[in-house]
Amino acid sequence: ALIVKHRMKSSSLWAKTAAILKDFEEKCETPIEKLRQVADAMTVEMHAGLASEGGSKLKMLITYVDNLPTGDEKGLFYALDLGGTNFRVIRVQLGGVGKGVVKQEAEEVSIPPHLMVGSSHELFDFIAAGVAKFIASESEEFQFPPGRQRELGFTFSFPVRQTSLASGTLIKWTKGFSIEETVGEDVVAELTKAIERQGLDLRVTALVNDTVGTLAGGRFHEKDVVAAVILGTGTNAAYVERAHAIPKWHGLLPKSGEMVINMEWGNFRSSHLPLTEYDHSLDDESLNPGEQIFEKLISGMYLGEILRRILLKMAEETSFFGDVVPPKLNVPFILRTPHMSSMHQDASSDLRAVASKLKDVLGIVNTPFKTRKTVVELCDIIAKRGARLSAAGIVGILKKQGRDTATDQRTVIAMDGGLFEHYAVFSKYLESSLAEMLGDKVASSLIIMHANDGSGIGAALIAASNSQYNEMEAS
Ligand code: GLC
Repeated sequence: ALIVKHRMKSSSLWAKTAAILKDFEEKCETPIEKLRQVADAMTVEMHAGLASEGGSKLKMLITYVDNLPTGDEKGLFYALDLGGTNFRVIRVQLGGVGKGVVKQEAEEVSIPPHLMVGSSHELFDFIAAGVAKFIASESEEFQFPPGRQRELGFTFSFPVRQTSLASGTLIKWTKGFSIEETVGEDVVAELTKAIERQGLDLRVTALVNDTVGTLAGGRFHEKDVVAAVILGTGTNAAYVERAHAIPKWHGLLPKSGEMVINMEWGNFRSSHLPLTEYDHSLDDESLNPGEQIFEKLISGMYLGEILRRILLKMAEETSFFGDVVPPKLNVPFILRTPHMSSMHQDASSDLRAVASKLKDVLGIVNTPFKTRKTVVELCDIIAKRGARLSAAGIVGILKKQGRDTATDQRTVIAMDGGLFEHYAVFSKYLESSLAEMLGDKVASSLIIMHANDGSGIGAALIAASNSQYNEMEAS
């Protein structure tokens, strides 16, 4: 009798689990009509953000990049890429006309978490020390003309209101950084001061967002690149806009007639977004409540955390992991998107990888197959929603550019970021939703290009095409 009772209990708990799963799935649904509404809302907000400062949640930031690299740039340039849990320093030797990048080296340093929420000084000192060390390691294979000052492109992947190509104030931090005193400061000035404290002679020639760097890096290889999207720790897009179509731009009309816009689409928000109770609580408890809502549905920093929240709910309400709630499941951000991705993409018949992640990351042992399978289903719901929403964002940009209907022109989008690069199921959903929204004809002329490492090289290229020595060279 006892056993029967137990079985009844467990089957009713499974029914409850199934109900939570079903409800979550329904709330996350992104049927094509909904995606179209999101894409349309994106286009509308783009217009509003270009019309006036503060006209939209989409900041549509003017980047002062009105010329993308041609591929003919020449010389040795540095780049510093700051925007996630690591920073990277890069040096590239550009060969000049027809030669492209002839040699490059990079070094990656992880940022101690306490520096992401500490003081401005400490963060920039830490970074400048890394830059100094890297520059000191420059070998003679790289040819730097004596008597000149080295130049660097600074990829700073946060929203910045630029005042020129090489200056701009931080609007707010995103992605887990939170250092109040940096907000409103010129980040190039902060970096330059820290560089000077290192006793280094280095000029910051360009300040670019990672999307803008990726656009430039992509264009270097492919002249049809018209937009760049980052799907990584955070998410964002940049694209080439006609200067005439930017009412809030009061500066001179650039010779090219074009201006790159950093959309900061992570902050996009619309009533059409499928938000669940888990998204709301994640947002409420985040470092930046009410902000970066689109980013919180899509990007690598958050997908694993959404999964943790729903697993916790199941553990609490349906004894999903047994009689006790696994204590580690209460720890915010303990379940990272790479963990989620390897569970989601577990190809073994007994879902071994799911079991081992649950054990290693959350300390949950002996999970029945049914439990593992439910975990995979949850991963799928979360990744699919994120991928489809990013596709809708891309379609919004294509609409703004008039590239969403069939023509003969090729459209190339440069993409980068860990989510895009390492989460294959995510990228597959992204591409299939693009085809679904655009139709086969348009989708076949759209190329999603992986601009590996584009953001750093792109910043070096932009520094090169704006080098203080260019005029001297030309004369
Ligand atoms: C965040 C930042 C944005 C960046 C993106 C991708 O959304 O605000 O500037 O481009 O992450 O790194």
